[in-house]
Amino acid sequence: QAQAIILGIETSCDETAAAIVLRDSAGGATIASNVVRSQLDEHAAFGGVVPELAARAHVTFLDHIIAQACREAGISLADVDAIAATAGPGLIGGVLVGLTTAKALAAALDKPLIAVNHLEAHALTARLTDGVKFPYLMLLVSGGHSQFVLVRGVGDYERWGTTIDDALGEAFDKVAKLLSLGHPGGPAVEAIAKSGDARRFKFPRPLLREARLDFSFSGLKTAVRLQAEALAPLSDQDVADIAASFQAAVAEIVAVRAGQALARFKEQLPGHVPQLVVAGGVAANRTIAAALQEACARAGADLIVPPIALCTDNGAMVAWAGAERFALGATDQLDFIARPRWPL
Ligand code: KG4
Ligand code: ZN
Repeated sequence: QAQAIILGIETSCDETAAAIVLRDSAGGATIASNVVRSQLDEHAAFGGVVPELAARAHVTFLDHIIAQACREAGISLADVDAIAATAGPGLIGGVLVGLTTAKALAAALDKPLIAVNHLEAHALTARLTDGVKFPYLMLLVSGGHSQFVLVRGVGDYERWGTTIDDALGEAFDKVAKLLSLGHPGGPAVEAIAKSGDARRFKFPRPLLREARLDFSFSGLKTAVRLQAEALAPLSDQDVADIAASFQAAVAEIVAVRAGQALARFKEQLPGHVPQLVVAGGVAANRTIAAALQEACARAGADLIVPPIALCTDNGAMVAWAGAERFALGATDQLDFIARPRWPL
């Protein structure tokens, strides 16, 4: 079967990434290469991503990452059928580096450009990794986003809920910071929580009594801060207990919301097996994954968690979103303008 060869470029946050993905005419996918360079070291001293430093690092490394992606896939740039790049939402300096590079390549090679919405790339990843069929519900929980999106088809999305303040990964990062656990906080909080007592503190579950599918994490974060201040100086056990209690609170929030979202799915899409797809870095959290597994079991729904390297930011998801759009003839003009904000 004829295959399309797509280059995908991702530079919207702190990973410089490029990948080559093949899509056959039946929709089958092959990841021929997937190269990610994380900027953790550049930002470590600042306790978070510094946009200007991120953009500069993308400038320094992107050419090499693209060359490596082609080399590992055993192709040359001239072999690609289309060039896909994240065009938003994200840190605009970084987005401009990736999108402008993609435009230059598209112009020089005379190949189509596909300007990809980063959220769409996360939303379609489960079709790349698990061949998931439409429709499905996506829960995106990353450092920048926390939302439920109904995915009906390529380009056919309906946002059912979002965060009204912090993203879930951001909440993990802020809690880690106030417990002096370093950045990124999610993995550190999860690790220390293992030796903690999740029942020692009963932290609030903001918004949970309301029927809407939105999240709010800033009140929870404040409660954690006040508790930490009340106990200071914190023993190692205090830190572990706070981390565990915080993690239990967010796991419950996410699981309850997932149950509500799946109930809505069954109501609005009768006759479809409910499917919940998880995306974003927080998908790596075992306690949250287990809570989601339980919520899905209760709802009679399938839970799909792609390999974590494809849940976090990467080039393959952008290439794949490009491949899905390319198959539909949905390419973009070279004057496409990068978008710092771009809801699905
Ligand atoms: O998707 P991602 O790699 O980058 C974007 O934000 O786009 O997500 C990173 C976020 C960070 O906030 C990080 O703390 C969080 O995901 N994270 C975790 C875990 N691993 C990463 N949060 C909770 N538990 C984890 N194991
Ligand atoms: Zn992302």
